[in-house]
Amino acid sequence: MKKLFFAVLIVFTFSLSTCTSDLYNPDVCFQENVLPIFVSKCSMAGCHNSSNHEAHYDLTNYDGIMKGIVPKHPLQSELYNSMRGPNASMPPLNYPQLTGKELSYIKIWIKMGAKNSSNCSGCDTTQFAFNSRVKPIIDTWCVGCHNAGSAGGGYDLSSYTGIVTSITDGRLLGTLQQTAGFSPMPKNTSALSSCDLTAVEKWIAAGYPNN
Ligand code: HEC
Repeated sequence: MKKLFFAVLIVFTFSLSTCTSDLYNPDVCFQENVLPIFVSKCSMAGCHNSSNHEAHYDLTNYDGIMKGIVPKHPLQSELYNSMRGPNASMPPLNYPQLTGKELSYIKIWIKMGAKNSSNCSGCDTTQFAFNSRVKPIIDTWCVGCHNAGSAGGGYDLSSYTGIVTSITDGRLLGTLQQTAGFSPMPKNTSALSSCDLTAVEKWIAAGYPNN
């Protein structure tokens, strides 16, 4: 009987500790992981941006997002509650939905105190392969507004081919570097971090291989 008790205790402790390490992930960073979710899934025209005063929330910056967040308490945070579960009201059904990974990033970030953190995992400028480095940046920051159903400016950036089209049209770099004559991207918010921008620039300079 005693043995069984200890076996149960060990299994219980183990599952608790794996849960905790999953929840407190120091690599979840506001600027790189959380802000882009709100920008690309919530701030499109007519929704939660600074020019739509009817929407209760401006979700294009830290202060606006914090109006719906209670640090350390995801379940008391109105914004998190509106997005989770089968009856989530946001984003509305006809818009791209949040993935499970995106929801868990937001939850972990709130649990960790909802700080305005950036560059949490350091910057490694030697890494700029398409699939491991560039595509995740575009997926995070751009695809919410540039997908097959809703291609902002005519650009669907959800695939390699679509991204290459924006390069060969001569539009991608200027929008990211926010040069005059281009529409600054990501729309409605600040430019990519210099670390992410450098990765995209190096990949384009290397001939944008599908690697
Ligand atoms: C909140 C929605 C939104 C986000 C996020 C967004 N875009 Fe856009 N994008 C648009 C819309 C709408 C247009 C077309 C109208 C305009 O230029 O504002 C556009 C236009 C563009 C254009 C053509 C603009 C030009 O000057 O030729 C490019 C290229 C582009 N986006 C790339 C990106 C990239 C790369 C990202 C991510 C880093 C991104 N966009 C993020 C909505 C968005």
